[in-house]
Amino acid sequence: TATTYTFLLDGQWHESESNETIEIASPYKEDIVGRVQAMTKPEVDRAIASAKTAQAEWAKVPANKRAELLHAWATELEKRADEIGKVIMREVGKGLADGIKEVKRTAEIIRYTAEEGLRFDGQMMQGDSFPGGSAKKIAVIKKAPLGVVLAISPFNYPVNLAAAKLAPALMTGNAVVFKPATQGSISGILMVEALVAAGLPAGLVNLVTGRGSVIGDYLTAHPGINMITFTGGTATGQHLSRQSSMIPLVLELGGKDPALVLEDADLSLAADHIISGAFSYSGQRCTAIKRVFVLEPQADALVAELSARIAKLTVGSPEDESVVVPLIDAKSADFVEGLITDANEKGATLVTGGNRTANLIEPTLFDHVTRDMRIAWEEPFGPVLPIIRVNSVEEMIAYANESEYGLQASVFTENIDAAFSVADALETGSVQINGRTERGPDHFPFIGVKSSGLGVQGVGRSLASMTRDKLTVLNLK
Ligand code: G3H
Repeated sequence: TATTYTFLLDGQWHESESNETIEIASPYKEDIVGRVQAMTKPEVDRAIASAKTAQAEWAKVPANKRAELLHAWATELEKRADEIGKVIMREVGKGLADGIKEVKRTAEIIRYTAEEGLRFDGQMMQGDSFPGGSAKKIAVIKKAPLGVVLAISPFNYPVNLAAAKLAPALMTGNAVVFKPATQGSISGILMVEALVAAGLPAGLVNLVTGRGSVIGDYLTAHPGINMITFTGGTATGQHLSRQSSMIPLVLELGGKDPALVLEDADLSLAADHIISGAFSYSGQRCTAIKRVFVLEPQADALVAELSARIAKLTVGSPEDESVVVPLIDAKSADFVEGLITDANEKGATLVTGGNRTANLIEPTLFDHVTRDMRIAWEEPFGPVLPIIRVNSVEEMIAYANESEYGLQASVFTENIDAAFSVADALETGSVQINGRTERGPDHFPFIGVKSSGLGVQGVGRSLASMTRDKLTVLNLK
């Protein structure tokens, strides 16, 4: 029988007073992976109150001791990497090797955050640099924690994207209320178990699981929350941003990352990156390549390179390390199937794929995709890639910028001047030259503009986002 997990409140694991649990079903086989608690609003209140109390003490703990907790957490995760990697595989259908890699990458982010956090200092300013000011007026600008940070993580990196929020929050003296995506919460619970084993003070991180319909808005609009850091869907992020008032938000949302293949591109290299960018983990990455712009003269050759590589992709169970695996749930597969049907009906050329078995969608490539097709604009979060043929680089840029999203883009060219001028013209947070769109290495800033997000992540920027300036002015005689 599947394990029933409990939630962490004030250093103790509890069953909910609701007496209800939520079943976590396997994305790829008939199986219940486990059950998590369906918490109530009063339990959410207690989680936030306990975090607030713990934070007051934690903020006084020396930074080097806070760093020690993070290093100990990283060590615990490394010890349990195989076990947690396997749970990631079972819960969100990611290949086992990738699941284990995610845990190890997480330990590295945590350690880097601890190190960066030790060097994350404030500033001193002297008054005399402003007209009429005095050198005897000295500002000491410290980095102060925000208080209780609400961290909400998505299903696709249930450990990594959670720890990328918890670690900087803890390092800068905040407490955390952690709400994992329901599908992904078991992995999140194991990650928190590792933190408890590392010596987490009671109440400093409280874990909340439950139904969005019951506690979602209650949690995100709660007056006890001082900052929200969220990774997930654009609609939810927009809702959060409308609902929140006067607290900082960091949002990492959806994308429609384009690959722009210029006339002089190395097509073989471009195809390698486009395929890995589009189809790894079935495209269930915000940074997946989600459309390809190519000029007519190179289009046939590029399509041939892409379809040859798609034919070699492994498709099936994550237990067999397949690249293309069943999507997270039936609703997601229904959505992707709808995009495929729409493109077929509107006359796109189906180069390969297009079929579905349960939640598994074959890697699908469409050519001659036109503006009236949903796949030209919508984010599939699935293994479907549209090729859009255009007549000029200017047209590529304008088409790319018409998107509501602005996460990343890839530009493939051998011309460094063209690369920079296209990169400058693209309305995205980042542009990759001759590489696939991706977040890592994790100390780089990670930025979404337009409907792709708000604020910046990446180790250093995440530390900054969880602090505010605290000014003390010294008026010397
Ligand atoms: O799904 C969104 C993630 O932040 C993407 O991360 O580029 O490492 O796959 P990744």
